[in-house]
Amino acid sequence: MLQKFDPRNQDILVYVNGDLLPRAEAKVSVFDSVVQGGDAVWEGIRVYNGKIFALEEHMLRLQHSAKAMAFAAVPTTNQIKQALFSTLEANEMRDDTHVRLTLTRGEKITSGMNPKLNQAGCTLIVLAEWKPPIYQSIKLKLSTSSIRRNSPQNLDSKIHHNNLINNILAKIEANLCGADDALMLDQIGFVSETNATNIFMASQGILYTPHADSCLPGITRSKVIDLAQALGISLVEKNLSLTEFYNADEVFTTGTMGELAEVVEIDSREITNESEHLLLPGIKEAFASMVSVEGEKLPF
Ligand SMILES: Cc1ncc(COP(=O)(O)O)c(C=O)c1O
Repeated sequence: MLQKFDPRNQDILVYVNGDLLPRAEAKVSVFDSVVQGGDAVWEGIRVYNGKIFALEEHMLRLQHSAKAMAFAAVPTTNQIKQALFSTLEANEMRDDTHVRLTLTRGEKITSGMNPKLNQAGCTLIVLAEWKPPIYQSIKLKLSTSSIRRNSPQNLDSKIHHNNLINNILAKIEANLCGADDALMLDQIGFVSETNATNIFMASQGILYTPHADSCLPGITRSKVIDLAQALGISLVEKNLSLTEFYNADEVFTTGTMGELAEVVEIDSREITNESEHLLLPGIKEAFASMVSVEGEKLPF
């Protein structure tokens, strides 16, 4: 499953530090921290039906990530929201849109990793693209990666940072295996998440997901947990092994880019439902109604 170029994105305008620029001119300096060290934080956000889904949660996670990284002169949430609104308005995007919002530590006075070399404040990039959920109508095959997901011992996954090499190395392995995405384990061998999404499994009518220790505490993940509770489905967060996933009745991933996507195979083991329960269709339906009504209304 490889995303394709969408011609509607040929003439988009991209926000870079106050300017709305055509995509070919939307650039950051070679002195920017994101170029020098992947020293940036980001959010993937979706626009549905004239509303930005879970905007407050995304803004909070961005601010928490920036604080953990000790960024200086961070724009306020209100300033970031205004940048987001003006980008969407300039592109007349009110639906079917994914936004990659990046906040870097900003430009350095000379190359080097020391944050003391950053004296100009943060760089804010708002890249809004026409992009329907990327796993629509695709059933995923996963392969387990030899690359372990970062733990708080080395790089806390609660910082949503741009240093994505951990995930990219795992994705390279998945590509080599002909899988759609990589399943990543934590430091002691329990399933953590995929290289790009959180993961759930169902067994005998109960929904399970790994603790958010090594995985990103995804916003879609937390919405699915809320929906499961609202639907009366028992939800258990626990350490889960590969064997439990191989033998699950249902497995699915969650994330802003691809919403809820069914997994049909892990490491050549087919996921077969041997129980009378089928949880994913109901959760998907509840998620679709949630995104169509919830969210911050666009002011244009
Ligand atoms: C590694 C990883 N896991 C999970 C997610 C899903 O998070 P969310 O539901 O907040 O989009 C993302 C999204 O960026 C991610 O990069």
